[in-house]
Amino acid sequence: MSIGGRFGKYGELKRKNRLRQARGIINIPQKGIQTATPIRRQKTPKKSVSITLRKGMPKDRHFVSNLSRRVFSVFGDYAGIVLRWLDRPDVITVIAEQHSTPLGFAMLYLRKNLIFSRNVGELLAIAVIPEYQGRGIGRTLLAYMESLAKKYGATELHLSTAEMNKVACRFFEKAGFTPIGARDNFYPAGQRALEMSKGL
Ligand SMILES: CC(C)(COP(=O)(O)OP(=O)(O)OC[C@H]1O[C@@H](n2cnc3c(N)ncnc32)[C@H](O)[C@@H]1OP(=O)(O)O)[C@@H](O)C(=O)NCCC(=O)NCCS
Repeated sequence: MSIGGRFGKYGELKRKNRLRQARGIINIPQKGIQTATPIRRQKTPKKSVSITLRKGMPKDRHFVSNLSRRVFSVFGDYAGIVLRWLDRPDVITVIAEQHSTPLGFAMLYLRKNLIFSRNVGELLAIAVIPEYQGRGIGRTLLAYMESLAKKYGATELHLSTAEMNKVACRFFEKAGFTPIGARDNFYPAGQRALEMSKGL
């Protein structure tokens, strides 16, 4: 039977698929079906880690710059940028550690929005070492940074993340952040940034 015969094009496709299934051949989806960009996820949930949080100190320079190099270098020389943030007195750095071993960090900057005259917290960076990602450390750090910003009078927390960084976008959305804008060529390596905000 030719395509377009008694059953039409799709009847013919269905017939071929039935024949394939009968022979144990896996049906390949037709062209043109759009799928969402996959986000890599562990199949089995990783064990959660109990951590303590403390203020970042000059002794954390090595850890902060190494981790930034590992996770941010695709966006530019963030090891250097993040170290300059660590040194600034108006940036609060928090380290997440387990038995004195640092596993992650986050940085918060507080600024005044002069137009609306309200305090806005800016989450400058958040990172967890790759071997410990997906165990709730990022969520704990972020919740703590939100509570810190609130404590210092901020009514909103803003952040920028690369649009192509789907894991980070999902992470922030899950924590209640919503997109408020985008900026082309925001990162030194040229990626577009998504700006997100959350009311505190
Ligand atoms: C983004 C980052 C900080 C998240 O930290 P984490 O400790 O791995 O995240 P958590 O385990 O706390 O996950 C919290 C939520 O984020 C989402 N999430 C985290 N990792 C994810 C992944 N690989 N895929 C999909 N969603 C993910 C999930 O919704 C998760 O909640 P759930 O486990 O209940 O589903 C971490 O992936 C990281 O350091 N990435 C590199 C640096 C970076 O991109 N920073 C953000 C821009 S500044």
